[in-house]
Amino acid sequence: MQWQALRLKLKKEMDRAVGVFDSGLGGLTTVKALNELLPNEDIIYFGDTARIPYGSKSRETILKYATQDTNFLKTKNVKMIIAACGTVSSLIGGKNLTSALPFTGVLLPAVQAACAATRTKRIGVIGTLATIQSGSYGKAIKNIEQKAVVIGNACPMFVPLVENGYISGQIAEYFVKEYLTPIKKENVDTLILGCTHYPILKDVIADFMGETVKLISPGEEAAKYASIALLSENLLNEKNEQGINSYYVSDSPESFEQNAARFLGGSINGEVKLASVGVG
Ligand code: DGL
Repeated sequence: MQWQALRLKLKKEMDRAVGVFDSGLGGLTTVKALNELLPNEDIIYFGDTARIPYGSKSRETILKYATQDTNFLKTKNVKMIIAACGTVSSLIGGKNLTSALPFTGVLLPAVQAACAATRTKRIGVIGTLATIQSGSYGKAIKNIEQKAVVIGNACPMFVPLVENGYISGQIAEYFVKEYLTPIKKENVDTLILGCTHYPILKDVIADFMGETVKLISPGEEAAKYASIALLSENLLNEKNEQGINSYYVSDSPESFEQNAARFLGGSINGEVKLASVGVG
């Protein structure tokens, strides 16, 4: 009887959803990877679309927003939280924003993947202004590869381009050339797309950098990292059916729904609801 009670309790823990948040649509790159890796997990996503961009805001404001986003997901009884935002991840370092749940940002998983991929130890990092100013990617890389040469550049126009659908063509190519020329000149062999929005520009970036440069997507790496964390905590959902995705946004669900397809590789696979986070 005791065993059965324990089994039921464990099953209840495993059945809880995985929580993912970002300032907007970028974290959907993590959702896409999670859906592929762990198709039977339920996912609850929060996109803070009313307050995007985070990357041009102060450290205090970004940390306040990240704490509110985390607390919102905690009210949904999730079993793990992924901060699928390069900006938040850079500012919190390895800190867990929850008191008791498994938690990861995207920075460490991306850095580990980049260090494993590089042959020449010359690594480029692009991100929002706050991410690049924090220097966190460089510090984390040097913790693993002391001799690495890290070349960073902020790409403030990439998030608005992606959020508004300018992901190919002349305008995207112009800004990719503008931001990536200083990095290309340094002959990096690996480039961390240090913001979860940037993989949507991957084709244009890959064309510009050339096929010898390995591109690292932090959202995907965080999804792999989270899968291993759930496995090692015995929290993987064992149900034998497709997981349910639920989305919450702090502004227009309609516009989120329209734009999500670019990130998910297909139309949105779940209900989108409005949530008031950090209001009042
Ligand atoms: N996806 C966020 C990041 O990874 C977008 C940045 C922003 O809100 O400025 O940094």
